[in-house]
Amino acid sequence: MQLTPASLAPYNTFALTQTADRLTVIEQREQLLELWQARQDEPLLIVGEGSNLLFTAPFHGLVLVNRLKGIVVNETGDAWLLKVAGGENWHQLVCWTLEQKMPGLENLALIPGTVGASPIQNIGAYGVELAQFCEQVESFDWHSGETRHWSAAECAFGYRDSVFKHEARHHLILSVTLRLPKAWHPVLGYGPLAELGEAATAQQIFERVCATRQAKLPDPAVLGNAGSFFKNPKVVTAQAEALRLAWPALPVFAAEAGRSKLAAGWLIDKAGLKGTRVGGAGVHTEQALVLVNHGGATAEDVLRLAALVRERVEQLFGVRLEPEVRMMGPDGETCLDEALACLN
Ligand code: EPU
Repeated sequence: MQLTPASLAPYNTFALTQTADRLTVIEQREQLLELWQARQDEPLLIVGEGSNLLFTAPFHGLVLVNRLKGIVVNETGDAWLLKVAGGENWHQLVCWTLEQKMPGLENLALIPGTVGASPIQNIGAYGVELAQFCEQVESFDWHSGETRHWSAAECAFGYRDSVFKHEARHHLILSVTLRLPKAWHPVLGYGPLAELGEAATAQQIFERVCATRQAKLPDPAVLGNAGSFFKNPKVVTAQAEALRLAWPALPVFAAEAGRSKLAAGWLIDKAGLKGTRVGGAGVHTEQALVLVNHGGATAEDVLRLAALVRERVEQLFGVRLEPEVRMMGPDGETCLDEALACLN
């Protein structure tokens, strides 16, 4: 049977024109079981809003787009427990909780993507991350066709990391249960938030976070991008100290024992790469950690730009950047080196 490939353009915020052999939008849980029963032996890719993905090639398999909707609230003496379907939009959830006078998620305002994607890479911003609120994740296991529940410990959250990026990649996130404690404390450690002072309300923090993000981070609806393209690299503390001697302004953050985290955006910026372009892809002029699609960029443009950034930063600072964006090749997840090798 001749298949008409489906466009992936609406399902990646980089706005790359890529295709998939088959694509189904999941709006009801029952659809999943039906699809699973009729499954073929083909690669599977589960997508939310595609805000952390780079499709490096046409995908030869089935794409499931998670659009499951619904929020169920359970109130206990000291917290609200929100069971949120995986296809809900994250930022709309943050707005809704604040309207309901359930504070806690305000620092995570305007993060693109779905609720289902939030545990996968343990979204985080301005001193807060999803792991702090995650009570349970419910998933559909595409290998067994069964539903599974994961405690926060089982999710194995790390910096932009969880079990769902590793051995549980084939799980579609049905719902995420968030625990918002009624005893709320503002998290104001990040510069622009500290200015608000200890009396800050959740609404004020929300507004400041939105303003900060809007000033620095490009709106994917206007300029295609997938947020931070690289992770902030961790190096041994001795290396961070040596770099600090040479570059006193280098931002260095504490990490686990013996290691320090560097600001990748600063390194890229100092390497003089802001505004650098390869074809239609460019380094964002306000936040160097973000690669953008100026229009008509191909996956090859983005990959070659990413390679150039990584090479220049390594030459200047001896630090090798690792992509934070997940790359999807013709039959599943790939990496920058593998994707580049396929171009040559
Ligand atoms: N910086 C520069 N030039 C730049 C970019 C950054 O000098 O072009 C400096 C900043 O002045 C600051 C430091 O680098 O001193 C860090 O920059 P910023 O505060 O903008 O945050 P980031 O480390 O670049 C991380 C997350 C973002 C998150 C922000 C705020 C990662 C990979 N990125 O960025 O998350 O919004 O902190 O908490 O951890 C994402 O994951 O997609 C994302 C956008």
